[in-house]
Amino acid sequence: MFNTQIFQWKSFLILFFSILFLLFNFRRIFPQKLFRESRSDVKYIRSPFDRTLAFIRWNSAHIQRIPLIEKYRPFFNELHYSIPSFTNQVNLTADGLIKYDFPYKMVSETMEIILNGTYSSIQGILFFHFDAWINPFKFVGMNFENIWFLDSTVPPFICMKSEKEIFWWSDINGLQRISQKARKLLEEKHPKKYFIKDENEFCVGWSDIYYIPRRFFQDFILLSNIYHSVGTFHEIAIPTIVKIIDFTYRLSNSHSIITKISDCWGNCCSSGAKSIDLQIRRCGHRMDLNNEIIQQTFLRSLQSQFSLINKTFS
Ligand SMILES: *[C@@H]1O[C@H](CO)[C@@H](O)[C@H](O)[C@H]1NC(C)=O
Ligand SMILES: *[C@@H]1O[C@H](CO)[C@@H](O)[C@H](O)[C@H]1NC(C)=O
Ligand SMILES: *[C@@H]1O[C@H](CO)[C@@H](O)[C@H](O)[C@H]1NC(C)=O
Repeated sequence: MFNTQIFQWKSFLILFFSILFLLFNFRRIFPQKLFRESRSDVKYIRSPFDRTLAFIRWNSAHIQRIPLIEKYRPFFNELHYSIPSFTNQVNLTADGLIKYDFPYKMVSETMEIILNGTYSSIQGILFFHFDAWINPFKFVGMNFENIWFLDSTVPPFICMKSEKEIFWWSDINGLQRISQKARKLLEEKHPKKYFIKDENEFCVGWSDIYYIPRRFFQDFILLSNIYHSVGTFHEIAIPTIVKIIDFTYRLSNSHSIITKISDCWGNCCSSGAKSIDLQIRRCGHRMDLNNEIIQQTFLRSLQSQFSLINKTFS
């Protein structure tokens, strides 16, 4: 009576459906934790500047440096080249400003283009000279909602009421007069909009590298227009503008919205950075790109950081 053939068929079917069940419920039966990585845990390494436009300024038209500077492109959302006579109109990616006194005006016009256009992925602008260096991955962890401003000795980032208070630029006439003119104009055009501690006060500071987050673009545009209209030199205009923004928007006396960067190599007027400086300092000014060793170090340094982009980690 015992039918071995049916028994074998039954066993086979049970085994078959068991395997099918296991296959379909594998993930449920064996929790995801058992796997080293599941799809949603995979993270890609991104450049800290992937939402930043790099505004790169040349004071003289060394366009032969463009291919070298292009190496920054993968680290930034967009690059803007500000090169004397490069083009005759400002757009998102270029301007041709000739005079070196007012590059902040071009920065502010680029901000206007960003705000007027559909560039919502750009959340800040990092300004730097083409012969300054930036090691992008050494900026991981920075507060991208703050303004960043350099802190050095030449010139120091300080505010004063009289140009006699500082040895630097004491030979340039009328700094104080110009800044007072700007303050007066600001008060006339936008009364009480900004917190001005002292109407005679103005600031100076090393302005070859700085970062402005999008939340302050509107203020930077308004203030740049005022300071530019009376001809304020950039190393006075920018520190003064960022200080006005800081005093207006800080939450309390001790909560500045400026992150001071005091570990950049050099200052406004230094040169002679060595290879080791380019490797260990996250930023600096100036590097001599005519020097073959410096150029190679710069390229290698960006190349090694480039190789990190889009690597996965979990
Ligand atoms: C900006 O102008 C430059 C120079 O004329 C041009 O090469 C570039 O394509 C323009 N960029 C945009 C976004 O229109
Ligand atoms: C941006 O838009 C404002 C308001 O419409 C306009 O006045 C200004 O000229 C525009 N700026 C640029 C650079 O397009
Ligand atoms: C990284 O991945 C993004 C998105 O897939 C891609 O657009 C970008 O070009 C990649 N960058 C590099 C340097 O591989």
